[in-house]
Amino acid sequence: MDLMDAIYSRRSVRSYTDQQVEKPVVESLIQAAVQAPSALNQQPWAFAVVQDGKLLAQYSNRVKAHVLKTLKPQSPLYNHREELANPEYNVFYNAGTLIIVCAKPEGVHAEEDCSLAAQNLMLAAHAMGLGTCPIGFARPWLNLARTKRALAIPQDYTVVFPVIVGYPMGDRPPVARREPEIVSWR
Ligand SMILES: Cc1cc2nc3c(=O)[nH]c(=O)nc-3n(C[C@H](O)[C@H](O)[C@H](O)COP(=O)(O)O)c2cc1C
Repeated sequence: MDLMDAIYSRRSVRSYTDQQVEKPVVESLIQAAVQAPSALNQQPWAFAVVQDGKLLAQYSNRVKAHVLKTLKPQSPLYNHREELANPEYNVFYNAGTLIIVCAKPEGVHAEEDCSLAAQNLMLAAHAMGLGTCPIGFARPWLNLARTKRALAIPQDYTVVFPVIVGYPMGDRPPVARREPEIVSWR
């Protein structure tokens, strides 16, 4: 797939088939991720992969419970309370793979570096016929000390970008973009 086609046709995928993404494919996505630029070439990223379906279902419930417990009325997520309370709603959309991009403490711009890595991963996945979706909802729960312990994520690493991966089911409608605001061009 041509790069511009990939950029323009990638969509967040929220419906997946049962087909599991094979380990070598996940490894190749992580290799694509680490081709991203990083400040001072620090490459301050690390990855945790979850492919255990039972764990993903359990994590989805824990993420929802945590978000509901900590939600403040001023949060933009406040309007999503009903969705989060729905037992049918899986925050990972039943995808078979969750890749968690984590920032190492030494990174001077680690969040940006990790986000660039995640975008590489999502575009590479799309070019390979896979679907992805960032799951920001899961970030606060994934950053809890006990969750990091369970996932062998060192305590001084920060979960920056959880992204689900799987084989897409159905079509995705285009998502319109606003015209870019160019505030100056001197
Ligand atoms: C940092 C970040 C967090 C996101 N978190 C979620 C999420 O928790 N759940 C979800 O369904 N989509 C999530 N998204 C996907 C956005 O909703 C999506 O990118 C946006 O609607 C534009 O659609 P597109 O990706 O198909 O172009 C997230 C996107 C980003 C960049």
